[in-house]
Amino acid sequence: MKLYFVRHGIAEDMADSDFTRELTPRGRRRVAQSAQVMRRLGLRPQRIYSSPRLRSRQTAEVIAAALDRPATLADEVNFGFDLDDISSLTRGLGHDAEVMFVGHNPDMSRVVHQLTGVNVSMKKGGLARVDVYDGIAAQGELVWLIAPKVFDALAEYDAPVLAVSALPTPPQKLPETPHTLQRLIQNRWSPVGFDRERSIDSATLLSILEAGRWAASSSNLQPWRFIVAPKENQAEFQKLLSVIREGNQPWAQHAAVLMIAVAHKFRGPGVANRHAGYDLGQAIAQMALQALDHGVYVHQMGGFYPDKAREVYKIPDEFEPYTAVAMAYRTSDLDHLSDGHRQRETSQRERHSLADLVFSGAWARPADFLP
Ligand SMILES: Cc1cc2nc3c(=O)[nH]c(=O)nc-3n(C[C@H](O)[C@H](O)[C@H](O)COP(=O)(O)O)c2cc1C
Repeated sequence: MKLYFVRHGIAEDMADSDFTRELTPRGRRRVAQSAQVMRRLGLRPQRIYSSPRLRSRQTAEVIAAALDRPATLADEVNFGFDLDDISSLTRGLGHDAEVMFVGHNPDMSRVVHQLTGVNVSMKKGGLARVDVYDGIAAQGELVWLIAPKVFDALAEYDAPVLAVSALPTPPQKLPETPHTLQRLIQNRWSPVGFDRERSIDSATLLSILEAGRWAASSSNLQPWRFIVAPKENQAEFQKLLSVIREGNQPWAQHAAVLMIAVAHKFRGPGVANRHAGYDLGQAIAQMALQALDHGVYVHQMGGFYPDKAREVYKIPDEFEPYTAVAMAYRTSDLDHLSDGHRQRETSQRERHSLADLVFSGAWARPADFLP
């Protein structure tokens, strides 16, 4: 028998009682995304039993809708859920049955541990599959454990195991590369089709900025500075948008975070740092890859008004605003874009060949090690 254990999604901290704590909008969105992945993975539970607490119930309802299965409230899955409860809820089912339980910690982590001997820490929205072969009292096998972050990644990338996807995931723009590339480098590109609903949570944003902080720089001068405006603060977001050129605004306005990337131009008093822009570019490149690891896309823009940025943000003379940057999750819903931008979103990505770029011996002589 296949048993699925799900811990409810992220819920609000406070409510009239613990019983009525609801999923937060983010919690609901992540559960919906996870539920789509569960569907693509082919989960077919005959029964989905949920704790009656609202946050579990809502989690179970979203999953039940995605899997097209009924969800049933069961007091057994409430606080104190244990192996006896699993036995009573699965009694009489054949050994090829699939049953899902949606409830709370520490119970979910504990029953998985009791069944499998594996110490697991179920995250909110996480899912474990345990196969039991000979009655519930016997040892089960932990077949897999999917953390919410893994669900995010599975939803974002068309992993081969999910090739039967029925999800409207945005199409990828994988370049045709004759030589192997690391996955994030291969997947990075500059989209304009941004998910207008989805913001970037602060842990993700901080992780992206941290990646910039750890870039290499000449003499470790770290000349980069970032003016950052998440869309939650609409006044600041609009202020930053006003510095971006009109040609970029139609899509950049839907970003979750806008940013101006600035470099310090001097190594010391009166001594120019000719690597400042180079180092800033490295920092942004690292941020773009770190962002993509979270499913967030980075689109850089030379199309902004540096002088206006200097004026609006009172940027001192020794600093140079180099680029504007938009960050967002992607969407496959491109209705809000112009025809031109829609077309750009699906066009092939092009690059010069290595022979045009890599020389040896003399300028413009393609390196002899090239194929
Ligand atoms: C410094 C810089 C400035 C850019 N300026 C703009 C811009 O103003 N508007 C825009 O739509 N894209 C801009 N881009 C994105 C490039 O057009 C894009 O990176 C390039 O076409 C390669 O496509 P890819 O990033 O999807 O691989 C810029 C990129 C960089 C690095």
